[in-house]
Amino acid sequence: MKLATKLLIAIFFSIVFVIIVMSLSFYHFSKSYYKHQLQEDVENRLLSHAEIIGAHSDETTLAHVMMMEAGQEENTFIIFDESLQVINSSRYFSDEVLANYQLWISKKIHQNSKTEFIDTMEEHIPHAWSYTSFATIDGERGYLFIDQDTGSFEKTRKHIFLLTLGIGFLAMCLAVIVSFYLSKRLTNPIMKAQELTREIASGRLDVDVPISTSKDEVSILLSDISIMAISLKEYRDERQQFLTNISHDLRTPLTYIKGYSALLKDQQLEPPVVKEQSNIIYQEASRMEHLVQDLFHLMKYEEGSFHLDVERTDLKGFFDQIQTKLKLDIQSKQLNLKVHAANDDMYVAIDRGQFERAVMNLLSNAIRHTQPGGEINVALTRETQRCMIEIRDNGTGIPEKDLDRIWERFYRVDSSRSTKLGGSGLGLAITKEIIHLHHGLISVSSKMGEGTTFIIEIPAE
Ligand SMILES: Nc1ncnc2c1ncn2[C@@H]1O[C@H](COP(=O)(O)OP(=O)(O)OP(=O)(O)O)[C@@H](O)[C@H]1O
Ligand SMILES: [Mg+2]
Repeated sequence: MKLATKLLIAIFFSIVFVIIVMSLSFYHFSKSYYKHQLQEDVENRLLSHAEIIGAHSDETTLAHVMMMEAGQEENTFIIFDESLQVINSSRYFSDEVLANYQLWISKKIHQNSKTEFIDTMEEHIPHAWSYTSFATIDGERGYLFIDQDTGSFEKTRKHIFLLTLGIGFLAMCLAVIVSFYLSKRLTNPIMKAQELTREIASGRLDVDVPISTSKDEVSILLSDISIMAISLKEYRDERQQFLTNISHDLRTPLTYIKGYSALLKDQQLEPPVVKEQSNIIYQEASRMEHLVQDLFHLMKYEEGSFHLDVERTDLKGFFDQIQTKLKLDIQSKQLNLKVHAANDDMYVAIDRGQFERAVMNLLSNAIRHTQPGGEINVALTRETQRCMIEIRDNGTGIPEKDLDRIWERFYRVDSSRSTKLGGSGLGLAITKEIIHLHHGLISVSSKMGEGTTFIIEIPAE
Protein backbone atom coordinates (compact mmCIF):
# COMPACT_ATOMS: atom_id res chain seq x y z
CA MET A 1 0.00 0.00 0.00
CA LYS A 2 1.28 3.47 -0.87
CA LEU A 3 2.47 5.74 1.93
CA ALA A 4 -0.08 8.40 0.88
CA THR A 5 -2.94 5.89 1.19
CA LYS A 6 -1.70 4.68 4.57
CA LEU A 7 -1.45 8.26 5.85
CA LEU A 8 -4.86 9.10 4.38
CA ILE A 9 -6.46 6.16 6.19
CA ALA A 10 -4.61 6.89 9.47
CA ILE A 11 -5.48 10.61 9.49
CA PHE A 12 -9.07 9.95 8.40
CA PHE A 13 -9.73 7.38 11.14
CA SER A 14 -8.05 9.53 13.80
CA ILE A 15 -10.23 12.50 12.86
CA VAL A 16 -13.37 10.34 12.71
CA PHE A 17 -12.50 8.86 16.12
CA VAL A 18 -12.04 12.33 17.62
CA ILE A 19 -15.34 13.49 16.07
CA ILE A 20 -17.26 10.48 17.43
CA VAL A 21 -15.79 10.96 20.93
CA MET A 22 -16.54 14.71 20.82
CA SER A 23 -20.10 14.20 19.56
CA LEU A 24 -20.86 11.54 22.17
CA SER A 25 -19.40 13.69 24.96
CA PHE A 26 -21.35 16.71 23.75
CA TYR A 27 -24.55 14.69 23.67
CA HIS A 28 -23.90 13.15 27.06
CA PHE A 29 -23.00 16.43 28.80
CA SER A 30 -25.89 18.38 27.33
CA LYS A 31 -28.26 15.60 28.45
CA SER A 32 -26.95 15.55 32.03
CA TYR A 33 -26.98 19.36 32.15
CA TYR A 34 -30.62 19.44 31.04
CA LYS A 35 -31.60 16.76 33.60
CA HIS A 36 -29.82 18.64 36.34
CA GLN A 37 -31.61 21.87 35.41
CA LEU A 38 -34.99 20.16 35.35
CA GLN A 39 -34.38 18.56 38.74
CA GLU A 40 -33.35 21.89 40.24
CA ASP A 41 -36.41 23.59 38.76
CA VAL A 42 -38.84 21.00 40.14
CA GLU A 43 -37.19 20.96 43.59
CA ASN A 44 -37.16 24.77 43.79
CA ARG A 45 -40.83 24.92 42.86
CA LEU A 46 -41.71 22.40 45.56
CA LEU A 47 -39.63 24.25 48.16
CA SER A 48 -41.23 27.64 47.43
CA HIS A 49 -44.73 26.04 47.55
CA ALA A 50 -43.78 24.39 50.88
CA GLU A 51 -42.67 27.77 52.23
CA ILE A 52 -45.89 29.54 51.17
CA ILE A 53 -48.11 26.75 52.51
CA GLY A 54 -46.06 26.71 55.73
CA ALA A 55 -46.67 30.44 56.22
CA HIS A 56 -50.34 30.58 55.13
CA SER A 57 -52.12 27.25 55.35
CA ASP A 58 -55.57 28.66 54.46
CA GLU A 59 -57.76 27.45 51.59
CA THR A 60 -56.95 30.43 49.34
CA THR A 61 -53.20 29.78 49.52
CA LEU A 62 -53.66 26.08 48.71
CA ALA A 63 -55.97 26.96 45.79
CA HIS A 64 -53.44 29.49 44.57
CA VAL A 65 -50.53 27.01 44.68
CA MET A 66 -52.72 24.40 42.98
CA MET A 67 -53.60 26.90 40.25
CA MET A 68 -49.95 27.72 39.66
CA GLU A 69 -49.06 24.06 39.20
CA ALA A 70 -52.14 23.28 37.09
CA GLY A 71 -50.84 25.93 34.68
CA GLN A 72 -47.59 23.98 34.25
CA GLU A 73 -47.59 21.57 31.36
CA GLU A 74 -47.07 17.81 31.59
CA ASN A 75 -47.13 17.49 35.33
CA THR A 76 -49.21 16.20 38.19
CA PHE A 77 -49.05 18.11 41.47
CA ILE A 78 -50.39 16.55 44.65
CA ILE A 79 -50.65 17.78 48.22
CA PHE A 80 -50.62 14.88 50.69
CA ASP A 81 -51.32 14.99 54.38
CA GLU A 82 -49.01 13.38 56.91
CA SER A 83 -50.50 9.92 56.36
CA LEU A 84 -50.11 10.30 52.57
CA GLN A 85 -53.83 10.89 51.88
CA VAL A 86 -54.50 13.31 49.02
CA ILE A 87 -55.58 16.77 50.18
CA ASN A 88 -55.67 18.24 46.72
CA SER A 89 -54.29 17.48 43.23
CA SER A 90 -53.91 19.33 39.95
CA ARG A 91 -54.99 16.43 37.74
CA TYR A 92 -56.96 13.21 37.78
CA PHE A 93 -55.10 9.90 38.27
CA SER A 94 -56.12 6.36 38.93
CA ASP A 95 -55.91 4.64 42.30
CA GLU A 96 -53.16 2.42 40.95
CA VAL A 97 -51.02 5.46 40.06
CA LEU A 98 -51.76 6.99 43.44
CA ALA A 99 -50.63 3.80 45.16
CA ASN A 100 -47.35 4.03 43.21
CA TYR A 101 -46.86 7.66 44.28
CA GLN A 102 -47.56 6.84 47.92
CA LEU A 103 -45.21 3.86 47.90
CA TRP A 104 -42.44 5.92 46.29
CA ILE A 105 -42.77 8.81 48.82
CA SER A 106 -42.86 6.45 51.77
CA LYS A 107 -39.60 4.89 50.55
CA LYS A 108 -37.95 8.26 49.85
CA ILE A 109 -38.72 9.62 53.31
CA HIS A 110 -35.94 7.39 54.61
CA GLN A 111 -33.49 8.43 51.87
CA ASN A 112 -31.59 11.58 51.14
CA SER A 113 -32.56 12.15 47.50
CA LYS A 114 -35.82 13.85 46.82
CA THR A 115 -36.00 13.44 43.10
CA GLU A 116 -35.81 10.42 40.81
CA PHE A 117 -36.07 9.95 37.07
CA ILE A 118 -38.43 7.07 36.47
CA ASP A 119 -38.02 5.40 33.11
CA THR A 120 -40.86 2.93 33.03
CA MET A 121 -43.56 5.25 31.80
CA GLU A 122 -45.40 5.16 28.48
CA GLU A 123 -43.38 5.72 25.27
CA HIS A 124 -40.24 5.36 27.37
CA ILE A 125 -40.28 9.05 28.15
CA PRO A 126 -38.88 9.32 31.67
CA HIS A 127 -40.76 11.20 34.38
CA ALA A 128 -39.16 13.18 37.15
CA TRP A 129 -40.75 12.44 40.50
CA SER A 130 -39.97 14.83 43.32
CA TYR A 131 -41.40 15.50 46.75
CA THR A 132 -40.85 17.76 49.75
CA SER A 133 -42.43 17.90 53.18
CA PHE A 134 -44.13 20.94 54.68
CA ALA A 135 -45.26 22.02 58.09
CA THR A 136 -47.80 24.81 58.74
CA ILE A 137 -47.74 27.23 61.68
CA ASP A 138 -50.85 25.42 62.97
CA GLY A 139 -48.74 22.28 63.34
CA GLU A 140 -50.17 20.47 60.31
CA ARG A 141 -47.68 18.36 58.31
CA GLY A 142 -47.79 16.93 54.85
CA TYR A 143 -46.01 16.36 51.53
CA LEU A 144 -45.95 18.15 48.22
CA PHE A 145 -45.35 15.90 45.24
CA ILE A 146 -44.71 16.56 41.52
CA ASP A 147 -44.75 13.98 38.71
CA GLN A 148 -43.11 15.97 35.91
CA ASP A 149 -43.26 14.51 32.40
CA THR A 150 -39.91 15.12 30.66
CA GLY A 151 -41.47 15.04 27.19
CA SER A 152 -40.15 18.45 26.18
CA PHE A 153 -36.76 17.46 27.47
CA GLU A 154 -36.90 14.31 25.30
CA LYS A 155 -37.79 16.45 22.28
CA THR A 156 -34.79 18.64 22.96
CA ARG A 157 -32.67 15.55 23.42
CA LYS A 158 -33.72 14.31 19.98
CA HIS A 159 -32.85 17.71 18.54
CA ILE A 160 -29.45 17.61 20.20
CA PHE A 161 -28.95 14.08 18.84
CA LEU A 162 -29.85 15.14 15.28
CA LEU A 163 -27.69 18.24 15.61
CA THR A 164 -24.76 16.11 16.78
CA LEU A 165 -25.29 13.74 13.83
CA GLY A 166 -25.39 16.69 11.41
CA ILE A 167 -22.25 18.23 12.85
CA GLY A 168 -20.62 14.80 12.84
CA PHE A 169 -21.44 14.31 9.16
CA LEU A 170 -20.13 17.75 8.23
CA ALA A 171 -16.99 17.16 10.25
CA MET A 172 -16.56 13.79 8.52
CA CYS A 173 -16.68 15.49 5.09
CA LEU A 174 -14.18 18.01 6.37
CA ALA A 175 -12.06 15.12 7.70
CA VAL A 176 -11.95 13.55 4.20
CA ILE A 177 -10.79 16.83 2.66
CA VAL A 178 -8.28 17.58 5.43
CA SER A 179 -6.82 14.07 5.49
CA PHE A 180 -6.55 14.05 1.69
CA TYR A 181 -4.79 17.42 1.72
CA LEU A 182 -2.50 16.50 4.63
CA SER A 183 -1.49 13.13 3.22
CA LYS A 184 -0.71 14.76 -0.16
CA ARG A 185 1.29 17.52 1.51
CA LEU A 186 3.26 15.06 3.59
CA THR A 187 3.94 12.51 0.86
CA ASN A 188 4.60 14.81 -2.11
CA PRO A 189 8.17 15.64 -1.03
CA ILE A 190 8.82 11.97 -0.25
CA MET A 191 7.58 11.00 -3.72
CA LYS A 192 9.86 13.69 -5.16
CA ALA A 193 12.80 12.19 -3.24
CA GLN A 194 11.89 8.74 -4.56
CA GLU A 195 11.70 10.06 -8.13
CA LEU A 196 15.09 11.78 -7.75
CA THR A 197 16.85 8.72 -6.36
CA ARG A 198 15.38 6.65 -9.19
CA GLU A 199 16.73 9.14 -11.73
CA ILE A 200 20.14 9.10 -10.06
CA ALA A 201 20.14 5.29 -10.00
CA SER A 202 19.42 5.24 -13.74
CA GLY A 203 22.46 7.47 -14.32
CA ARG A 204 20.82 10.87 -14.81
CA LEU A 205 22.87 12.92 -12.40
CA ASP A 206 21.74 16.39 -13.53
CA VAL A 207 18.69 16.12 -11.29
CA ASP A 208 16.65 19.20 -10.62
CA VAL A 209 16.13 19.37 -6.84
CA PRO A 210 13.46 21.87 -5.76
CA ILE A 211 14.90 24.54 -3.46
CA SER A 212 13.06 24.67 -0.16
CA THR A 213 13.47 27.15 2.68
CA SER A 214 11.89 24.87 5.26
CA LYS A 215 14.17 22.84 7.51
CA ASP A 216 12.07 19.71 7.97
CA GLU A 217 13.51 16.19 7.58
CA VAL A 218 12.25 15.69 4.02
CA SER A 219 13.69 19.02 2.81
CA ILE A 220 17.03 18.07 4.37
CA LEU A 221 16.79 14.67 2.67
CA LEU A 222 16.14 16.36 -0.71
CA SER A 223 19.10 18.67 -0.30
CA ASP A 224 21.30 15.68 0.73
CA ILE A 225 20.16 13.85 -2.41
CA SER A 226 21.15 16.88 -4.45
CA ILE A 227 24.61 16.98 -2.78
CA MET A 228 24.99 13.26 -3.42
CA ALA A 229 24.06 13.71 -7.10
CA ILE A 230 26.59 16.53 -7.47
CA SER A 231 29.44 14.50 -5.94
CA LEU A 232 28.48 11.46 -8.02
CA LYS A 233 28.51 13.61 -11.13
CA GLU A 234 31.93 15.03 -10.22
CA TYR A 235 33.23 11.53 -9.60
CA ARG A 236 31.78 10.28 -12.91
CA ASP A 237 33.15 13.23 -14.86
CA GLU A 238 36.59 12.77 -13.34
CA ARG A 239 36.58 9.07 -14.17
CA GLN A 240 35.38 9.84 -17.68
CA GLN A 241 38.15 12.40 -18.10
CA PHE A 242 40.74 10.00 -16.75
CA LEU A 243 39.70 7.24 -19.15
CA THR A 244 39.57 9.67 -22.09
CA ASN A 245 43.07 10.97 -21.29
CA ILE A 246 44.58 7.57 -20.75
CA SER A 247 43.03 6.08 -23.90
CA HIS A 248 44.25 9.08 -25.86
CA ASP A 249 47.76 9.02 -24.43
CA LEU A 250 48.19 5.29 -24.95
CA ARG A 251 47.44 5.49 -28.65
CA THR A 252 50.79 6.94 -29.78
CA PRO A 253 53.12 4.55 -27.88
CA LEU A 254 50.95 1.65 -29.00
CA THR A 255 51.26 2.72 -32.62
CA TYR A 256 55.08 2.64 -32.23
CA ILE A 257 55.09 -0.75 -30.53
CA LYS A 258 52.78 -2.17 -33.14
CA GLY A 259 54.69 -0.59 -36.05
CA TYR A 260 58.15 -1.74 -34.93
CA SER A 261 57.02 -5.21 -33.92
CA ALA A 262 55.42 -5.52 -37.38
CA LEU A 263 58.78 -4.65 -38.92
CA LEU A 264 60.63 -7.14 -36.70
CA LYS A 265 58.24 -10.04 -37.23
CA ASP A 266 58.56 -9.76 -41.01
CA GLN A 267 62.38 -9.97 -40.91
CA GLN A 268 64.49 -13.11 -41.01
CA LEU A 269 66.05 -12.81 -37.55
CA GLU A 270 68.38 -15.13 -35.67
CA PRO A 271 67.65 -16.88 -33.42
CA PRO A 272 64.11 -17.70 -34.78
CA VAL A 273 62.63 -17.20 -31.30
CA VAL A 274 63.07 -13.40 -31.74
CA LYS A 275 60.71 -13.52 -34.73
CA GLU A 276 58.25 -15.54 -32.70
CA GLN A 277 58.41 -13.07 -29.80
CA SER A 278 58.07 -10.09 -32.16
CA ASN A 279 54.94 -11.71 -33.52
CA ILE A 280 53.46 -12.02 -30.01
CA ILE A 281 54.33 -8.37 -29.30
CA TYR A 282 52.64 -7.40 -32.55
CA GLN A 283 49.45 -9.37 -31.77
CA GLU A 284 49.18 -8.12 -28.21
CA ALA A 285 49.87 -4.53 -29.33
CA SER A 286 47.12 -4.86 -31.95
CA ARG A 287 44.71 -6.15 -29.31
CA MET A 288 45.71 -3.31 -27.00
CA GLU A 289 45.27 -0.79 -29.80
CA HIS A 290 41.77 -2.11 -30.41
CA LEU A 291 40.90 -1.88 -26.77
CA VAL A 292 42.29 1.64 -26.42
CA GLN A 293 40.45 2.74 -29.55
CA ASP A 294 37.18 1.21 -28.30
CA LEU A 295 37.62 2.90 -24.94
CA PHE A 296 38.40 6.23 -26.55
CA HIS A 297 35.30 6.01 -28.77
CA LEU A 298 33.10 4.93 -25.90
CA MET A 299 34.23 7.96 -23.88
CA LYS A 300 33.43 10.22 -26.81
CA TYR A 301 29.93 8.74 -27.20
CA GLU A 302 29.27 9.06 -23.49
CA GLU A 303 30.36 12.70 -23.45
CA GLY A 304 27.24 13.34 -25.53
CA SER A 305 29.07 15.64 -27.93
CA PHE A 306 29.71 13.02 -30.59
CA HIS A 307 28.69 14.22 -34.04
CA LEU A 308 26.91 11.75 -36.33
CA ASP A 309 27.11 12.03 -40.13
CA VAL A 310 23.59 10.92 -40.80
CA GLU A 311 22.53 9.69 -44.24
CA ARG A 312 19.31 8.18 -45.52
CA THR A 313 20.15 4.50 -45.83
CA ASP A 314 18.39 1.42 -47.13
CA LEU A 315 18.70 -1.15 -44.35
CA LYS A 316 18.52 -4.11 -46.69
CA GLY A 317 21.44 -2.85 -48.83
CA PHE A 318 23.36 -1.95 -45.67
CA PHE A 319 23.08 -5.50 -44.30
CA ASP A 320 23.95 -7.02 -47.68
CA GLN A 321 27.27 -5.18 -47.51
CA ILE A 322 27.88 -6.32 -43.96
CA GLN A 323 27.12 -9.89 -44.99
CA THR A 324 29.80 -9.62 -47.70
CA LYS A 325 32.31 -8.24 -45.19
CA LEU A 326 31.69 -11.11 -42.78
CA LYS A 327 31.77 -13.81 -45.43
CA LEU A 328 35.26 -15.07 -44.51
CA ASP A 329 34.61 -15.20 -40.76
CA ILE A 330 31.33 -16.99 -41.35
CA GLN A 331 32.86 -19.51 -43.70
CA SER A 332 35.88 -20.20 -41.53
CA LYS A 333 33.61 -21.05 -38.61
CA GLN A 334 31.17 -22.98 -40.82
CA LEU A 335 28.26 -20.82 -39.78
CA ASN A 336 25.20 -19.84 -41.72
CA LEU A 337 24.32 -16.12 -41.80
CA LYS A 338 20.96 -15.21 -43.32
CA VAL A 339 19.48 -11.74 -43.78
CA HIS A 340 15.74 -11.54 -44.26
CA ALA A 341 13.93 -8.30 -45.09
CA ALA A 342 10.16 -8.35 -44.61
CA ASN A 343 9.49 -5.01 -46.38
CA ASP A 344 10.99 -3.01 -49.21
CA ASP A 345 10.90 0.52 -47.90
CA MET A 346 13.18 0.22 -44.92
CA TYR A 347 14.96 3.51 -44.89
CA VAL A 348 16.62 4.89 -41.81
CA ALA A 349 18.73 7.95 -41.04
CA ILE A 350 22.06 6.60 -39.77
CA ASP A 351 25.75 7.38 -39.58
CA ARG A 352 26.78 4.37 -41.66
CA GLY A 353 30.26 4.03 -40.12
CA GLN A 354 29.02 4.16 -36.53
CA PHE A 355 25.96 2.04 -37.15
CA GLU A 356 28.13 -0.58 -38.82
CA ARG A 357 30.36 -0.62 -35.75
CA ALA A 358 27.28 -1.23 -33.53
CA VAL A 359 25.91 -4.01 -35.72
CA MET A 360 29.35 -5.57 -36.23
CA ASN A 361 29.79 -5.82 -32.45
CA LEU A 362 26.54 -7.79 -32.24
CA LEU A 363 27.38 -10.01 -35.18
CA SER A 364 30.95 -10.68 -34.04
CA ASN A 365 29.58 -11.65 -30.62
CA ALA A 366 27.12 -14.00 -32.31
CA ILE A 367 29.90 -15.52 -34.42
CA ARG A 368 32.14 -15.84 -31.37
CA HIS A 369 29.53 -17.55 -29.20
CA THR A 370 27.98 -19.89 -31.76
CA GLN A 371 29.35 -23.36 -32.39
CA PRO A 372 30.38 -24.37 -35.92
CA GLY A 373 27.33 -25.37 -37.95
CA GLY A 374 25.18 -22.86 -36.07
CA GLU A 375 22.91 -20.22 -37.56
CA ILE A 376 22.76 -16.46 -37.33
CA ASN A 377 19.59 -14.82 -38.62
CA VAL A 378 19.06 -11.15 -39.21
CA ALA A 379 15.40 -10.16 -39.67
CA LEU A 380 14.49 -6.63 -40.81
CA THR A 381 10.92 -5.39 -40.42
CA ARG A 382 9.25 -2.04 -40.72
CA GLU A 383 6.44 -0.76 -38.54
CA THR A 384 4.69 2.60 -39.05
CA GLN A 385 7.21 4.76 -37.26
CA ARG A 386 10.21 2.53 -36.80
CA CYS A 387 12.39 -0.23 -38.20
CA MET A 388 13.25 -3.32 -36.22
CA ILE A 389 16.50 -5.23 -36.62
CA GLU A 390 16.54 -8.64 -35.00
CA ILE A 391 19.85 -10.49 -34.72
CA ARG A 392 19.33 -14.05 -33.54
CA ASP A 393 21.86 -16.82 -33.03
CA ASN A 394 21.54 -20.38 -31.76
CA GLY A 395 24.73 -20.22 -29.76
CA THR A 396 25.61 -20.68 -26.10
CA GLY A 397 23.19 -18.10 -24.74
CA ILE A 398 23.66 -15.71 -21.82
CA PRO A 399 22.73 -16.65 -18.23
CA GLU A 400 19.66 -14.75 -16.99
CA LYS A 401 21.54 -13.19 -14.08
CA ASP A 402 24.00 -11.52 -16.48
CA LEU A 403 21.43 -10.19 -18.97
CA ASP A 404 21.08 -6.80 -17.25
CA ARG A 405 24.81 -6.32 -16.85
CA ILE A 406 26.18 -7.15 -20.31
CA TRP A 407 25.73 -3.48 -21.33
CA GLU A 408 28.19 -2.32 -18.69
CA ARG A 409 31.66 -1.48 -19.93
CA PHE A 410 34.27 -4.26 -19.32
CA TYR A 411 31.54 -6.67 -18.26
CA ARG A 412 32.02 -10.15 -19.61
CA VAL A 413 29.89 -13.15 -18.74
CA ASP A 414 32.70 -15.61 -18.31
CA SER A 415 35.76 -13.38 -18.13
CA SER A 416 38.38 -16.14 -18.43
CA ARG A 417 36.65 -17.62 -21.48
CA SER A 418 35.97 -14.21 -23.01
CA THR A 419 39.64 -13.24 -22.67
CA LYS A 420 40.58 -16.42 -24.52
CA LEU A 421 38.05 -15.50 -27.19
CA GLY A 422 39.61 -12.05 -27.37
CA GLY A 423 36.85 -9.94 -25.82
CA SER A 424 37.39 -6.95 -23.57
CA GLY A 425 33.75 -6.34 -22.65
CA LEU A 426 33.38 -2.97 -24.36
CA GLY A 427 31.48 -4.10 -27.48
CA LEU A 428 27.93 -3.99 -26.14
CA ALA A 429 28.53 -0.76 -24.17
CA ILE A 430 29.63 0.86 -27.47
CA THR A 431 26.69 -0.65 -29.40
CA LYS A 432 24.18 0.66 -26.85
CA GLU A 433 25.66 4.18 -26.94
CA ILE A 434 25.60 4.24 -30.76
CA ILE A 435 22.00 3.04 -30.90
CA HIS A 436 20.98 5.69 -28.33
CA LEU A 437 22.78 8.37 -30.37
CA HIS A 438 20.51 7.30 -33.25
CA HIS A 439 17.46 7.76 -30.97
CA GLY A 440 16.95 4.02 -30.98
CA LEU A 441 16.52 1.29 -28.40
CA ILE A 442 18.22 -2.05 -27.98
CA SER A 443 17.07 -5.05 -25.97
CA VAL A 444 18.20 -8.61 -25.46
CA SER A 445 16.65 -11.95 -24.66
CA SER A 446 18.51 -15.19 -24.27
CA LYS A 447 18.19 -18.76 -23.13
CA MET A 448 21.17 -20.85 -22.11
CA GLY A 449 21.90 -23.52 -24.70
CA GLU A 450 19.30 -22.17 -27.13
CA GLY A 451 20.70 -18.85 -28.27
CA THR A 452 20.51 -15.10 -27.98
CA THR A 453 18.39 -12.44 -29.71
CA PHE A 454 19.20 -8.73 -29.85
CA ILE A 455 16.51 -6.36 -31.13
CA ILE A 456 17.28 -2.83 -32.29
CA GLU A 457 14.47 -0.34 -32.90
CA ILE A 458 15.24 2.91 -34.72
CA PRO A 459 13.00 5.59 -36.15
CA ALA A 460 12.09 4.93 -39.79
CA GLU A 461 12.56 7.58 -42.46
N1 LIG B 1 25.43 -13.48 -28.89
C1 LIG B 1 25.97 -13.77 -27.72
N2 LIG B 1 25.93 -15.03 -27.25
C2 LIG B 1 26.44 -15.34 -26.04
N3 LIG B 1 27.03 -14.45 -25.21
C3 LIG B 1 27.09 -13.18 -25.62
C4 LIG B 1 26.56 -12.77 -26.88
N4 LIG B 1 26.77 -11.44 -27.01
C5 LIG B 1 27.39 -11.05 -25.90
N5 LIG B 1 27.60 -12.09 -25.06
C6 LIG B 1 28.23 -12.03 -23.72
O1 LIG B 1 28.22 -10.69 -23.29
C7 LIG B 1 29.51 -10.27 -22.89
C8 LIG B 1 29.72 -8.82 -23.24
O2 LIG B 1 29.77 -8.63 -24.64
P1 LIG B 1 30.64 -7.49 -25.24
O3 LIG B 1 30.46 -7.49 -26.70
O4 LIG B 1 30.30 -6.26 -24.51
O5 LIG B 1 32.08 -7.88 -24.81
P2 LIG B 1 33.10 -8.88 -25.50
O6 LIG B 1 32.49 -9.44 -26.71
O7 LIG B 1 33.51 -9.83 -24.42
O8 LIG B 1 34.30 -7.91 -25.83
P3 LIG B 1 34.46 -6.93 -27.09
O9 LIG B 1 33.14 -6.88 -27.74
O10 LIG B 1 34.84 -5.65 -26.45
O11 LIG B 1 35.50 -7.51 -27.90
C9 LIG B 1 30.45 -11.17 -23.59
O12 LIG B 1 31.61 -11.39 -22.79
C10 LIG B 1 29.67 -12.44 -23.78
O13 LIG B 1 29.92 -13.34 -22.71
MG1 LIG C 1 31.73 -8.13 -28.26
